[in-house]
Amino acid sequence: MNRIVVTGAAGLVGHRLMQQLQEKGEVFGFYHCARPEITPGSWQSVDLQKREEVHQALDGIRPAILIHCAASCQPVHCEKYPMETLAVNYGGTLHLAEWAAEHSCFFLHVSTDLVFDGTRGHYSEQDAVRPISVYGWSKLAAEEAVRSHGGEWCIARTALVFGRSRGGNRGADELLVQSWKQGKTTPLFQDEYRTPTSVGELAEKLIEVADERITGLVHIAGSECLSRYEFGCKIAGHFGFPPSLLSARKIEDVVSVPPRAPNVSMNITKARALFRSPFRSIEENLRREHPAP
Ligand SMILES: NC(=O)c1ccc[n+]([C@@H]2O[C@H](COP(=O)([O-])OP(=O)(O)OC[C@H]3O[C@@H](n4cnc5c(N)ncnc54)[C@H](OP(=O)(O)O)[C@@H]3O)[C@@H](O)[C@H]2O)c1
Repeated sequence: MNRIVVTGAAGLVGHRLMQQLQEKGEVFGFYHCARPEITPGSWQSVDLQKREEVHQALDGIRPAILIHCAASCQPVHCEKYPMETLAVNYGGTLHLAEWAAEHSCFFLHVSTDLVFDGTRGHYSEQDAVRPISVYGWSKLAAEEAVRSHGGEWCIARTALVFGRSRGGNRGADELLVQSWKQGKTTPLFQDEYRTPTSVGELAEKLIEVADERITGLVHIAGSECLSRYEFGCKIAGHFGFPPSLLSARKIEDVVSVPPRAPNVSMNITKARALFRSPFRSIEENLRREHPAP
C-alpha cells in the first residue's frame, strides 16, 4: 500500500482507521472542525462540501486509496437540516468520487444499514433499499454518487458501531456508559433490532478491503442480531452496571422523528466468505475494546 487518505479521520471509524493503518503506508487524515491533538499520521482540514477545496487537497497528496468515513450521521440532526445533510453526505461523496475516478484511486465508501426500511431484517446486498429518514436517503444518494462515477470502488455498509472512540463519547456502548455513570436510567427499545458492529473489527475489515482491492457492495456488520435492549444488557453486564439502569420500551410507545426502523439487521454471508479476519461475538468484542472496565 502507498498513500492513503481517510476522511472523517477524527470520527469514530476514521480515527480507528488512522491508528490501525500506520504500518500500511503514508496516511493522511481529513477532518473538518477539530484536529485531534496527539495522533499518528498527517492531518488536513477539508470541508467536503467545497469541491475545489477537496480536489486541491487530493491533488496535493495524490492518494492511491481513499477511505471515506466522513458524514453527517446524527439522524435527528439530519432530519432537521436536510439540505446541509445532503450537501455533506451526497455532495461531499460526489466531490471525492469524481477525483478518485479521474485519478485511478481506489475509493472505499462507508455506508449504512439505514438505507433499508427495517420492515424485514437480515438484509443482504441483493435486497431492495428504501430509506425512511433524511440520513438514510442522503447515504443512499452517496452510494449512487460512488457507483455512477465508475473507477475502482467498494461500498461497505455497516451498522450501529460500538467501541472506544477518540473522545470516549461516540461508540454506542460509550454513550450508555456515560449515562449510567451519571446514575441515569436509559430507555432502550426491545423491538428495534440491529447487528452492532465493533469499531476495531470494522476497521480491520475495511483495511482488508483496501489491501485486497475488493470491489462492489459488501455488508460489514456484527455477527449477532439483537434488540437495543438486549445489546444494552450485554454492555451493562460487561461494565458491571445493574440491569435496573435499563428500561425496556416499545417503538409504538414513543413518537420518533425520524421514524425508527424496526429491524435493519444485516446478512453478512458475503463478508464471511471474503475476509480472513474473524467475526467475533459481542462479548468478545467488548472485551477487546474495553479490556479492563
Ligand atoms: N456510527 C455508527 O453507528 C454508524 C452506523 C452505520 C454507518 N455509519 C457510517 O460510518 C461512517 C463513519 O461514522 P462515524 O460513526 O465514524 O461518524 P462520526 O464519528 O460522526 O465522524 C464523522 C466525521 O465526519 C466529519 N465531517 C462532517 N461534516 C464534514 C464536512 N463537511 N467536511 C469534512 N468532514 C466532515 C466530522 O469531522 P469533524 O469531527 O472534524 O467535524 C466527523 O468527525 C459514516 O459514513 C456513517 O454514515 C456509522
